[in-house]
Amino acid sequence: MDYFKMIPNDIPLPLPDGGLSFVEPVFHLLLVVAWVVHILFINVLLGASFGAVYFNSKGVKMKNPVFDRVGYLLTTPVTISENMGALWGVAPLLLVSVLFTPLFYAAAIMNSPHWLHIIYGNIAAFLLSYLYKFTWHTLEDRKSLHLVIGVISVALFFTLPPVFMATVQLYITPTTWTYDTHFWDALLRPDTFFRLMHFYFASFAVTGIFMLLYGFYKRKSADELDRQAGDVLVSTGKSWFLVPTVLNFFVGPLVLFSFPSYGLEAFFNSGYYWLILLSIVLALVMIYMLIKGFFNNDLSAKKVWTIVGLMLVVVMSMATLRHGMRLSLTGPAMAEAKAKSLDFQQRAQDAKLEAEAAAAAAPKVQMAQGEALATKHGCLACHSVDNKVVGPAYREVAKKGYDQAKIVALVAAPQPANWPGYTAMPPMPQVPAEDLKVIADWINSLK
Ligand code: HEC
Repeated sequence: MDYFKMIPNDIPLPLPDGGLSFVEPVFHLLLVVAWVVHILFINVLLGASFGAVYFNSKGVKMKNPVFDRVGYLLTTPVTISENMGALWGVAPLLLVSVLFTPLFYAAAIMNSPHWLHIIYGNIAAFLLSYLYKFTWHTLEDRKSLHLVIGVISVALFFTLPPVFMATVQLYITPTTWTYDTHFWDALLRPDTFFRLMHFYFASFAVTGIFMLLYGFYKRKSADELDRQAGDVLVSTGKSWFLVPTVLNFFVGPLVLFSFPSYGLEAFFNSGYYWLILLSIVLALVMIYMLIKGFFNNDLSAKKVWTIVGLMLVVVMSMATLRHGMRLSLTGPAMAEAKAKSLDFQQRAQDAKLEAEAAAAAAPKVQMAQGEALATKHGCLACHSVDNKVVGPAYREVAKKGYDQAKIVALVAAPQPANWPGYTAMPPMPQVPAEDLKVIADWINSLK
Protein backbone atom coordinates (compact mmCIF):
# COMPACT_ATOMS: atom_id res chain seq x y z
CA MET A 1 0.00 0.00 0.00
CA ASP A 2 2.59 2.54 -1.00
CA TYR A 3 -0.02 5.21 -1.67
CA PHE A 4 -0.07 5.89 2.07
CA LYS A 5 2.83 8.25 2.11
CA MET A 6 3.11 9.22 5.72
CA ILE A 7 1.38 6.90 8.16
CA PRO A 8 2.94 7.47 11.56
CA ASN A 9 4.16 4.47 13.53
CA ASP A 10 2.05 5.67 16.41
CA ILE A 11 0.58 2.88 18.45
CA PRO A 12 -3.20 2.51 18.40
CA LEU A 13 -3.19 0.80 21.75
CA PRO A 14 -6.12 -1.43 22.58
CA LEU A 15 -8.61 0.66 24.57
CA PRO A 16 -8.34 -0.25 28.25
CA ASP A 17 -11.90 -1.53 28.38
CA GLY A 18 -11.47 -3.90 31.32
CA GLY A 19 -12.72 -6.73 29.14
CA LEU A 20 -16.06 -4.98 28.54
CA SER A 21 -16.54 -5.20 24.80
CA PHE A 22 -19.16 -2.44 24.67
CA VAL A 23 -16.72 0.29 25.71
CA GLU A 24 -15.34 0.98 22.24
CA PRO A 25 -18.77 1.15 20.51
CA VAL A 26 -19.91 3.49 23.30
CA PHE A 27 -16.96 5.76 22.53
CA HIS A 28 -18.06 5.86 18.89
CA LEU A 29 -21.66 6.57 19.88
CA LEU A 30 -20.57 9.31 22.26
CA LEU A 31 -18.48 10.84 19.50
CA VAL A 32 -21.50 11.04 17.18
CA VAL A 33 -23.90 12.35 19.84
CA ALA A 34 -21.56 14.90 21.40
CA TRP A 35 -20.60 16.12 17.94
CA VAL A 36 -24.27 16.63 17.00
CA VAL A 37 -24.94 18.69 20.13
CA HIS A 38 -21.77 20.68 19.49
CA ILE A 39 -22.50 21.33 15.85
CA LEU A 40 -26.13 22.38 16.40
CA PHE A 41 -24.94 25.09 18.79
CA ILE A 42 -22.21 26.10 16.33
CA ASN A 43 -24.80 26.24 13.53
CA VAL A 44 -26.98 28.59 15.55
CA LEU A 45 -23.93 30.59 16.63
CA LEU A 46 -22.94 31.27 13.02
CA GLY A 47 -26.46 31.85 11.71
CA ALA A 48 -27.66 33.98 14.60
CA SER A 49 -24.50 36.12 14.77
CA PHE A 50 -24.88 36.81 11.06
CA GLY A 51 -28.61 37.48 11.56
CA ALA A 52 -27.97 39.90 14.44
CA VAL A 53 -25.63 42.05 12.34
CA TYR A 54 -27.87 41.74 9.28
CA PHE A 55 -31.01 42.93 11.07
CA ASN A 56 -29.06 45.53 13.02
CA SER A 57 -27.82 47.16 9.81
CA LYS A 58 -31.25 46.80 8.21
CA GLY A 59 -32.76 48.55 11.24
CA VAL A 60 -30.21 51.39 11.05
CA LYS A 61 -30.65 51.84 7.32
CA MET A 62 -34.44 51.78 7.34
CA LYS A 63 -34.70 53.43 10.77
CA ASN A 64 -36.94 50.54 11.72
CA PRO A 65 -37.08 49.66 15.44
CA VAL A 66 -38.58 46.19 14.75
CA PHE A 67 -35.52 45.06 12.75
CA ASP A 68 -33.29 46.56 15.41
CA ARG A 69 -35.15 44.49 18.00
CA VAL A 70 -34.81 41.30 15.90
CA GLY A 71 -31.06 41.92 15.77
CA TYR A 72 -30.89 42.48 19.49
CA LEU A 73 -32.97 39.38 20.26
CA LEU A 74 -30.57 37.31 18.16
CA THR A 75 -27.54 38.29 20.27
CA THR A 76 -28.81 36.08 23.12
CA PRO A 77 -28.63 32.76 21.22
CA VAL A 78 -25.21 33.88 19.96
CA THR A 79 -23.61 34.13 23.38
CA ILE A 80 -25.36 31.01 24.69
CA SER A 81 -24.34 28.99 21.61
CA GLU A 82 -20.77 30.17 21.90
CA ASN A 83 -20.44 28.75 25.36
CA MET A 84 -22.41 25.57 24.77
CA GLY A 85 -20.74 25.01 21.39
CA ALA A 86 -17.25 25.33 22.84
CA LEU A 87 -18.15 23.21 25.86
CA TRP A 88 -19.64 20.37 23.78
CA GLY A 89 -16.80 20.65 21.30
CA VAL A 90 -14.29 19.34 23.84
CA ALA A 91 -15.87 15.85 23.87
CA PRO A 92 -15.57 15.13 20.12
CA LEU A 93 -12.00 16.44 20.08
CA LEU A 94 -11.01 14.15 22.94
CA LEU A 95 -12.87 11.15 21.53
CA VAL A 96 -11.36 11.62 18.08
CA SER A 97 -7.94 11.85 19.65
CA VAL A 98 -8.55 8.52 21.40
CA LEU A 99 -10.13 6.67 18.47
CA PHE A 100 -8.10 8.06 15.55
CA THR A 101 -4.89 9.07 17.34
CA PRO A 102 -2.21 8.62 14.68
CA LEU A 103 -4.24 10.22 11.89
CA PHE A 104 -5.70 13.05 13.93
CA TYR A 105 -2.43 14.20 15.45
CA ALA A 106 -0.60 13.96 12.14
CA ALA A 107 -3.25 16.24 10.59
CA ALA A 108 -3.13 18.62 13.56
CA ILE A 109 0.63 18.89 13.15
CA MET A 110 0.39 19.51 9.40
CA ASN A 111 -2.10 22.31 10.06
CA SER A 112 -0.50 23.43 13.28
CA PRO A 113 0.04 27.16 12.77
CA HIS A 114 -3.56 27.52 11.60
CA TRP A 115 -4.87 25.07 14.19
CA LEU A 116 -3.82 27.68 16.75
CA HIS A 117 -6.17 30.13 15.07
CA ILE A 118 -8.97 28.23 16.82
CA ILE A 119 -7.57 29.52 20.09
CA TYR A 120 -6.95 33.19 19.45
CA GLY A 121 -9.69 33.50 16.81
CA ASN A 122 -12.22 32.11 19.25
CA ILE A 123 -11.11 34.32 22.11
CA ALA A 124 -11.28 37.47 19.99
CA ALA A 125 -14.64 36.54 18.45
CA PHE A 126 -16.10 35.64 21.86
CA LEU A 127 -15.06 38.88 23.51
CA LEU A 128 -16.21 41.02 20.59
CA SER A 129 -19.60 39.30 20.48
CA TYR A 130 -20.10 40.05 24.17
CA LEU A 131 -19.02 43.63 23.60
CA TYR A 132 -21.47 43.85 20.69
CA LYS A 133 -24.33 42.50 22.77
CA PHE A 134 -23.72 44.58 25.89
CA THR A 135 -23.13 47.87 24.07
CA TRP A 136 -26.34 47.56 22.02
CA HIS A 137 -27.99 50.37 24.03
CA THR A 138 -24.94 52.26 25.33
CA LEU A 139 -23.66 52.80 21.78
CA GLU A 140 -27.12 53.91 20.62
CA ASP A 141 -25.64 57.17 19.26
CA ARG A 142 -22.62 55.53 17.65
CA LYS A 143 -24.40 52.88 15.61
CA SER A 144 -21.70 52.51 12.96
CA LEU A 145 -18.97 51.84 15.54
CA HIS A 146 -21.27 49.30 17.15
CA LEU A 147 -21.94 47.62 13.81
CA VAL A 148 -18.21 47.43 13.06
CA ILE A 149 -17.71 45.49 16.32
CA GLY A 150 -20.50 43.11 15.31
CA VAL A 151 -19.17 42.63 11.78
CA ILE A 152 -15.64 41.87 12.99
CA SER A 153 -16.90 39.30 15.49
CA VAL A 154 -19.08 37.57 12.86
CA ALA A 155 -16.22 37.58 10.34
CA LEU A 156 -13.95 35.99 12.95
CA PHE A 157 -16.52 33.32 13.77
CA PHE A 158 -16.75 32.41 10.10
CA THR A 159 -12.97 31.94 9.87
CA LEU A 160 -13.02 29.13 12.45
CA PRO A 161 -14.87 26.36 10.54
CA PRO A 162 -12.36 26.34 7.63
CA VAL A 163 -9.58 25.50 10.08
CA PHE A 164 -11.56 22.64 11.60
CA MET A 165 -12.71 21.43 8.20
CA ALA A 166 -9.20 21.40 6.71
CA THR A 167 -7.88 19.43 9.68
CA VAL A 168 -10.80 17.01 9.66
CA GLN A 169 -10.58 16.38 5.92
CA LEU A 170 -6.86 15.84 6.20
CA TYR A 171 -7.07 13.29 8.99
CA ILE A 172 -9.85 11.27 7.36
CA THR A 173 -8.06 11.09 3.99
CA PRO A 174 -4.54 9.90 4.83
CA THR A 175 -4.09 8.77 1.22
CA THR A 176 -3.65 12.43 0.30
CA TRP A 177 -0.79 13.10 2.67
CA THR A 178 2.58 14.23 1.51
CA TYR A 179 5.35 15.84 3.46
CA ASP A 180 4.47 19.29 2.13
CA THR A 181 0.76 19.15 2.83
CA HIS A 182 -0.32 22.31 4.56
CA PHE A 183 -3.45 24.21 5.49
CA TRP A 184 -4.20 25.87 2.14
CA ASP A 185 -3.72 22.62 0.20
CA ALA A 186 -6.18 20.94 2.51
CA LEU A 187 -8.66 23.83 2.50
CA LEU A 188 -8.84 24.39 -1.24
CA ARG A 189 -9.36 20.75 -2.12
CA PRO A 190 -12.83 20.04 -3.58
CA ASP A 191 -13.86 17.71 -0.74
CA THR A 192 -13.00 20.28 1.95
CA PHE A 193 -14.46 23.16 -0.03
CA PHE A 194 -17.80 21.45 -0.74
CA ARG A 195 -18.07 20.20 2.81
CA LEU A 196 -17.49 23.69 4.11
CA MET A 197 -20.24 25.02 1.85
CA HIS A 198 -22.53 22.22 2.97
CA PHE A 199 -21.77 23.14 6.57
CA TYR A 200 -22.38 26.89 6.13
CA PHE A 201 -25.69 26.21 4.34
CA ALA A 202 -26.68 23.78 7.10
CA SER A 203 -25.87 26.47 9.66
CA PHE A 204 -28.39 28.81 8.07
CA ALA A 205 -30.96 26.02 7.78
CA VAL A 206 -30.61 25.06 11.44
CA THR A 207 -30.73 28.73 12.45
CA GLY A 208 -33.89 29.04 10.33
CA ILE A 209 -35.58 26.30 12.38
CA PHE A 210 -34.32 27.94 15.56
CA MET A 211 -35.80 31.29 14.41
CA LEU A 212 -39.18 29.64 13.88
CA LEU A 213 -39.21 28.42 17.48
CA TYR A 214 -37.83 31.67 18.83
CA GLY A 215 -40.33 33.68 16.78
CA PHE A 216 -43.31 31.63 18.00
CA TYR A 217 -42.13 32.19 21.54
CA LYS A 218 -41.65 35.96 21.08
CA ARG A 219 -45.07 36.31 19.44
CA LYS A 220 -46.54 35.57 22.87
CA SER A 221 -44.52 38.36 24.51
CA ALA A 222 -46.18 41.19 26.46
CA ASP A 223 -43.96 43.68 24.63
CA GLU A 224 -45.43 44.94 21.33
CA LEU A 225 -41.99 45.33 19.67
CA ASP A 226 -41.04 41.78 20.69
CA ARG A 227 -44.26 40.44 19.17
CA GLN A 228 -43.54 42.19 15.85
CA ALA A 229 -39.95 40.93 16.01
CA GLY A 230 -41.41 37.45 16.54
CA ASP A 231 -43.30 37.74 13.23
CA VAL A 232 -40.10 38.76 11.42
CA LEU A 233 -38.25 35.83 13.01
CA VAL A 234 -40.89 33.34 11.86
CA SER A 235 -40.98 34.51 8.26
CA THR A 236 -37.18 34.84 8.10
CA GLY A 237 -36.81 31.41 9.70
CA LYS A 238 -38.89 29.80 6.95
CA SER A 239 -36.77 31.14 4.10
CA TRP A 240 -33.48 30.65 5.97
CA PHE A 241 -34.39 27.00 6.30
CA LEU A 242 -35.76 26.47 2.82
CA VAL A 243 -33.19 28.12 0.56
CA PRO A 244 -30.00 26.57 2.04
CA THR A 245 -31.66 23.16 2.44
CA VAL A 246 -32.59 23.10 -1.25
CA LEU A 247 -29.04 24.21 -2.12
CA ASN A 248 -27.63 21.43 0.03
CA PHE A 249 -29.48 18.86 -2.09
CA PHE A 250 -27.00 19.87 -4.81
CA VAL A 251 -23.93 20.32 -2.63
CA GLY A 252 -24.43 17.03 -0.75
CA PRO A 253 -23.65 14.77 -3.74
CA LEU A 254 -20.63 16.96 -4.58
CA VAL A 255 -19.32 16.35 -1.07
CA LEU A 256 -19.93 12.63 -1.34
CA PHE A 257 -18.28 12.13 -4.70
CA SER A 258 -15.26 14.29 -3.95
CA PHE A 259 -14.00 11.63 -1.52
CA PRO A 260 -11.30 9.18 -2.62
CA SER A 261 -12.85 6.22 -4.43
CA TYR A 262 -11.51 3.52 -2.08
CA GLY A 263 -13.40 5.27 0.77
CA LEU A 264 -16.61 5.58 -1.26
CA GLU A 265 -16.42 1.91 -2.14
CA ALA A 266 -16.01 0.90 1.50
CA PHE A 267 -18.81 3.30 2.47
CA PHE A 268 -21.27 1.86 -0.02
CA ASN A 269 -20.36 -1.63 1.15
CA SER A 270 -20.88 -0.71 4.79
CA GLY A 271 -24.65 -0.17 4.85
CA TYR A 272 -24.29 3.36 6.25
CA TYR A 273 -25.37 4.77 2.88
CA TRP A 274 -29.02 3.89 3.61
CA LEU A 275 -28.96 6.85 5.96
CA ILE A 276 -28.49 9.16 2.97
CA LEU A 277 -31.86 8.04 1.64
CA LEU A 278 -33.46 8.45 5.08
CA SER A 279 -32.03 11.97 5.43
CA ILE A 280 -33.21 13.00 1.97
CA VAL A 281 -36.74 11.68 2.52
CA LEU A 282 -37.09 13.38 5.91
CA ALA A 283 -35.65 16.65 4.57
CA LEU A 284 -38.20 16.55 1.75
CA VAL A 285 -41.00 16.08 4.29
CA MET A 286 -39.73 19.09 6.24
CA ILE A 287 -39.57 21.21 3.10
CA TYR A 288 -43.09 20.14 2.15
CA MET A 289 -44.46 21.04 5.59
CA LEU A 290 -42.79 24.44 5.53
CA ILE A 291 -43.83 25.32 2.00
CA LYS A 292 -47.40 24.34 2.83
CA GLY A 293 -47.20 26.54 5.93
CA PHE A 294 -45.72 29.34 3.84
CA PHE A 295 -48.55 29.51 1.36
CA ASN A 296 -51.40 28.82 3.77
CA ASN A 297 -49.77 30.95 6.44
CA ASP A 298 -51.06 28.51 9.04
CA LEU A 299 -47.82 27.18 10.44
CA SER A 300 -48.83 26.19 13.96
CA ALA A 301 -46.51 25.81 16.95
CA LYS A 302 -47.29 22.10 16.92
CA LYS A 303 -46.14 21.79 13.32
CA VAL A 304 -42.97 23.67 14.14
CA TRP A 305 -42.20 21.16 16.89
CA THR A 306 -42.80 18.32 14.42
CA ILE A 307 -40.33 19.99 12.06
CA VAL A 308 -37.82 20.38 14.91
CA GLY A 309 -38.21 16.68 15.76
CA LEU A 310 -37.71 15.72 12.11
CA MET A 311 -34.67 17.95 11.91
CA LEU A 312 -33.09 16.23 14.92
CA VAL A 313 -33.61 12.84 13.27
CA VAL A 314 -32.10 14.13 10.00
CA VAL A 315 -29.11 15.60 11.82
CA MET A 316 -28.53 12.38 13.80
CA SER A 317 -28.83 10.31 10.66
CA MET A 318 -26.42 12.57 8.76
CA ALA A 319 -23.97 12.53 11.66
CA THR A 320 -24.08 8.74 11.74
CA LEU A 321 -23.50 8.37 8.02
CA ARG A 322 -20.73 10.91 8.34
CA HIS A 323 -19.16 8.63 10.95
CA GLY A 324 -19.58 5.69 8.57
CA MET A 325 -17.76 7.66 5.89
CA ARG A 326 -15.01 8.49 8.37
CA LEU A 327 -14.57 4.81 9.29
CA SER A 328 -14.51 3.83 5.61
CA LEU A 329 -11.87 6.43 4.78
CA THR A 330 -9.61 5.85 7.78
CA GLY A 331 -10.00 2.04 7.95
CA PRO A 332 -7.02 0.99 5.79
CA ALA A 333 -4.63 3.53 7.32
CA MET A 334 -5.67 2.68 10.88
CA ALA A 335 -5.19 -1.02 10.10
CA GLU A 336 -1.78 -0.28 8.61
CA ALA A 337 -0.71 1.83 11.60
CA LYS A 338 -1.88 -0.96 13.90
CA ALA A 339 0.03 -3.60 11.93
CA LYS A 340 3.15 -1.43 11.98
CA SER A 341 2.81 -0.91 15.71
CA LEU A 342 2.27 -4.60 16.41
CA ASP A 343 5.28 -5.41 14.23
CA PHE A 344 7.32 -2.80 16.06
CA GLN A 345 6.20 -4.14 19.45
CA GLN A 346 7.03 -7.68 18.37
CA ARG A 347 10.48 -6.72 17.11
CA ALA A 348 11.21 -4.69 20.25
CA GLN A 349 10.13 -7.63 22.40
CA ASP A 350 12.25 -10.09 20.37
CA ALA A 351 15.27 -7.81 20.53
CA LYS A 352 14.88 -7.46 24.28
CA LEU A 353 14.67 -11.24 24.82
CA GLU A 354 17.59 -11.80 22.49
CA ALA A 355 19.74 -9.23 24.31
CA GLU A 356 18.82 -10.76 27.67
CA ALA A 357 19.71 -14.28 26.46
CA ALA A 358 23.02 -13.05 25.00
CA ALA A 359 23.88 -11.22 28.23
CA ALA A 360 23.12 -14.32 30.28
CA ALA A 361 25.24 -16.56 28.01
CA ALA A 362 28.18 -14.18 27.48
CA PRO A 363 30.08 -14.32 30.82
CA LYS A 364 29.94 -18.15 30.99
CA VAL A 365 31.39 -18.47 27.49
CA GLN A 366 34.08 -15.91 28.26
CA MET A 367 34.92 -17.42 31.60
CA ALA A 368 35.14 -20.94 30.24
CA GLN A 369 37.39 -19.56 27.52
CA GLY A 370 39.60 -17.77 30.10
CA GLU A 371 40.09 -20.93 32.09
CA ALA A 372 40.86 -22.96 28.96
CA LEU A 373 43.51 -20.44 27.85
CA ALA A 374 45.08 -20.41 31.31
CA THR A 375 45.37 -24.20 31.07
CA LYS A 376 46.72 -24.02 27.54
CA HIS A 377 49.48 -21.51 28.44
CA GLY A 378 50.50 -23.45 31.55
CA CYS A 379 49.35 -20.86 34.10
CA LEU A 380 47.46 -23.52 36.03
CA ALA A 381 50.70 -25.44 36.57
CA CYS A 382 51.61 -22.80 39.18
CA HIS A 383 48.18 -21.25 40.00
CA SER A 384 44.85 -22.56 41.10
CA VAL A 385 41.63 -20.70 41.70
CA ASP A 386 41.40 -21.16 45.45
CA ASN A 387 44.71 -22.40 46.74
CA LYS A 388 48.28 -21.27 46.90
CA VAL A 389 50.45 -23.49 44.66
CA VAL A 390 53.75 -22.07 43.41
CA GLY A 391 52.04 -18.83 42.70
CA PRO A 392 49.18 -17.19 44.62
CA ALA A 393 45.55 -18.35 44.31
CA TYR A 394 43.84 -16.41 41.52
CA ARG A 395 41.10 -15.40 43.95
CA GLU A 396 43.80 -13.61 45.93
CA VAL A 397 45.19 -11.99 42.77
CA ALA A 398 41.69 -10.84 41.87
CA LYS A 399 41.44 -9.01 45.21
CA LYS A 400 44.32 -6.75 44.17
CA GLY A 401 41.90 -4.98 41.87
CA TYR A 402 44.18 -4.81 38.81
CA ASP A 403 42.61 -3.85 35.53
CA GLN A 404 42.99 -6.00 32.43
CA ALA A 405 46.00 -4.08 31.03
CA LYS A 406 47.83 -4.24 34.34
CA ILE A 407 47.55 -8.04 34.52
CA VAL A 408 48.74 -8.35 30.92
CA ALA A 409 51.76 -6.19 31.80
CA LEU A 410 52.50 -8.16 35.00
CA VAL A 411 52.57 -11.50 33.20
CA ALA A 412 55.08 -10.13 30.69
CA ALA A 413 57.14 -8.56 33.48
CA PRO A 414 56.26 -9.97 36.92
CA GLN A 415 56.91 -7.91 40.05
CA PRO A 416 57.85 -10.49 42.71
CA ALA A 417 57.92 -7.70 45.30
CA ASN A 418 54.14 -7.74 45.17
CA TRP A 419 54.09 -11.23 46.67
CA PRO A 420 56.56 -11.55 49.53
CA GLY A 421 57.21 -15.15 50.48
CA TYR A 422 56.74 -16.41 46.94
CA THR A 423 59.37 -17.33 44.43
CA ALA A 424 59.46 -15.09 41.36
CA MET A 425 57.18 -15.88 38.47
CA PRO A 426 59.03 -16.36 35.19
CA PRO A 427 58.19 -13.67 32.64
CA MET A 428 56.00 -15.16 29.94
CA PRO A 429 56.15 -12.67 27.00
CA GLN A 430 55.39 -15.49 24.54
CA VAL A 431 51.74 -15.60 25.64
CA PRO A 432 49.73 -13.54 23.10
CA ALA A 433 48.24 -10.36 24.57
CA GLU A 434 44.79 -11.28 23.17
CA ASP A 435 44.80 -14.51 25.18
CA LEU A 436 46.11 -12.74 28.25
CA LYS A 437 43.24 -10.25 28.14
CA VAL A 438 40.73 -13.09 28.26
CA ILE A 439 42.66 -14.76 31.09
CA ALA A 440 42.84 -11.44 32.97
CA ASP A 441 39.05 -11.01 32.78
CA TRP A 442 38.59 -14.54 34.02
CA ILE A 443 40.95 -13.94 36.96
CA ASN A 444 39.12 -10.73 37.86
CA SER A 445 35.77 -12.51 37.66
CA LEU A 446 36.85 -14.77 40.53
CA LYS A 447 36.54 -12.09 43.22
C1 HEC B 1 56.37 -21.29 37.12
C2 HEC B 1 55.20 -20.91 37.88
C3 HEC B 1 54.29 -19.91 37.30
C4 HEC B 1 53.71 -19.94 36.12
C5 HEC B 1 53.81 -20.95 34.97
C6 HEC B 1 52.83 -18.78 36.10
N1 HEC B 1 52.92 -18.07 37.25
FE1 HEC B 1 51.94 -16.42 37.71
N2 HEC B 1 52.93 -16.28 39.43
C7 HEC B 1 53.83 -17.17 39.91
C8 HEC B 1 54.39 -16.70 41.15
C9 HEC B 1 55.43 -17.41 41.95
C10 HEC B 1 53.78 -15.46 41.41
C11 HEC B 1 54.03 -14.54 42.60
C12 HEC B 1 55.36 -13.76 42.48
C13 HEC B 1 55.38 -12.83 41.34
O1 HEC B 1 54.43 -12.09 41.17
O2 HEC B 1 56.42 -12.85 40.63
C14 HEC B 1 52.85 -15.23 40.30
C15 HEC B 1 52.02 -14.09 40.20
C16 HEC B 1 51.14 -13.93 39.24
C17 HEC B 1 50.28 -12.81 39.22
C18 HEC B 1 50.20 -11.68 40.20
C19 HEC B 1 51.18 -10.54 39.79
C20 HEC B 1 51.29 -9.42 40.81
O3 HEC B 1 52.26 -8.64 40.66
O4 HEC B 1 50.41 -9.31 41.70
C21 HEC B 1 49.50 -12.95 38.11
C22 HEC B 1 48.45 -12.00 37.61
C23 HEC B 1 49.92 -14.15 37.46
N3 HEC B 1 50.89 -14.74 38.17
C24 HEC B 1 49.34 -14.67 36.29
C25 HEC B 1 49.91 -15.73 35.61
C26 HEC B 1 49.44 -16.14 34.31
C27 HEC B 1 48.31 -15.48 33.54
C28 HEC B 1 50.18 -17.19 33.93
C29 HEC B 1 50.07 -17.95 32.64
C30 HEC B 1 50.23 -17.19 31.41
C31 HEC B 1 51.09 -17.45 35.01
N4 HEC B 1 50.89 -16.54 36.02
C32 HEC B 1 51.97 -18.46 35.00
C33 HEC B 1 54.15 -18.33 39.29
C34 HEC B 1 53.79 -18.73 37.99
